[in-house]
Amino acid sequence: MSLTKLYQHLEKIYHLNSISSLLSWDQETYMPEKAYAHRAKQMGVIAGLVHYYKTVELREILKDIPIHELHETDRLIVQKIQYDLEKWLKIPEKLAVEITEVSSQAQYHWDKAKKNNDFPLFAPYLSKLVSLKIEEANCLGYEDCPYDALLDHYENGLKSSDFERIIKPVVQQLYQKQSYEKPQHNPFHQFIPVAEQLAFANQFIQDLGFDFTRGRQDLSSHPFSNAISVHDVRITTRIHENDLQYMLYSTIHETGHALYELGLNDTLLGTPFSEPCSLTIHESQSRFWENNIGRSLPFCKFLARKLEEYLPKYFHNVNPYELFEVLNFVKPSLIRTESDEVTYHLHIALRFELEKALINQEISVQDLPALWNEKVSNYLGITPPNDTFGVLQDVHWSAGLFGYFPTYSLGSFYAAQIYLHLQSLFPDFDEQTEKGNFGFIHQWLKENIYSKGRLYFSHEILEQATGKPLEANAFLNYISSKITWV
Ligand code: CO
Repeated sequence: MSLTKLYQHLEKIYHLNSISSLLSWDQETYMPEKAYAHRAKQMGVIAGLVHYYKTVELREILKDIPIHELHETDRLIVQKIQYDLEKWLKIPEKLAVEITEVSSQAQYHWDKAKKNNDFPLFAPYLSKLVSLKIEEANCLGYEDCPYDALLDHYENGLKSSDFERIIKPVVQQLYQKQSYEKPQHNPFHQFIPVAEQLAFANQFIQDLGFDFTRGRQDLSSHPFSNAISVHDVRITTRIHENDLQYMLYSTIHETGHALYELGLNDTLLGTPFSEPCSLTIHESQSRFWENNIGRSLPFCKFLARKLEEYLPKYFHNVNPYELFEVLNFVKPSLIRTESDEVTYHLHIALRFELEKALINQEISVQDLPALWNEKVSNYLGITPPNDTFGVLQDVHWSAGLFGYFPTYSLGSFYAAQIYLHLQSLFPDFDEQTEKGNFGFIHQWLKENIYSKGRLYFSHEILEQATGKPLEANAFLNYISSKITWV
């Protein structure tokens, strides 16, 4: 009885969070500009309600649950909820509401600042947000440094020292690498109007498994995937009329996120049984489709056919080897989301260092633009011409998502390990990919990743699925098997 009450309560929180997600999707896509102040308030009201339900009320309901009498799944769920509750109880409702409101305002000003290369416009909001996040870290508590308390939101139990240990050898190996020679011809570089690109993207992601009866795709300034519910996932993309790749690979990335959300269990909503495990697992799914599958030669053969079929005006006799070369050309560049699979991790390393120093109060918001440029030039050997191409490029900090970036690299390392495992498991993996038969991959991911929900830690899911703990070497092996260095 009390278990039923718990599940009903969690489902109520789930629906409230759904409403909030829908408001945030609207803010990023169609909301009129001047609605932003009220939107921040609306989201603040919901955050306040959710906070109350998942602390005060949840604590009362959990008191009556006889945890030792429960069957395994129920017990795992209740244990996770108890862990969450202890964490949530440490954050005062006032702080939770303030963070939601300030980040909503900060995103609005970040968007303006980015468009106008105006870091000082954004700086006061970012400073406010950083101090609120430091307060949050102090409420949560930590062993080594405040930043670790925030990392834990996105990857349970991960410490910055663990991440440093994993990323360091990768950075050392990949530092200022470049692949052999710049491709002579780039088939993606031609003028294709926005509407035609979007129509193509909408057809193409269905071939990958995206279901338009349970989701949609729109345009936004920063591509994202937002799961409103298990049967409604919104993804967005952005378009350069002279470069189809710019849109296509961000769309494939977000589709990977969407496939994960749409493949989660659709019972016991709002419980860890039906929730995504962590951002690391989330990013492993998006990057698996974007990179491991999406930049492989068999996929390029499939893509070449689809370009000819869906965009006959622009593509005929597409050479898949040319696509492969273009998609795997490695060259340091300024924008993380457009960077290649290799230099990507240098982008992450520098963001990780900066946000860690910010939260640990070793640097201030005012220092960011100069430090950013210095690190970009150290790691990548290039210098941003302005802040729009530098410190203002990513949405994360404006949304208060400090501690998020490391999950991108970890996700890539997970994805490489999953990809190599699948290749050994299915001898015809490449042939099926070339044909565009992805059903067996969906099936395997559903059984081994999606259906596990959040009942286990990410590293447990990876180990159960691939038979091995995380090995960053898998990523290095995967990369060096397909890319030739200068
Ligand atoms: Co992503």
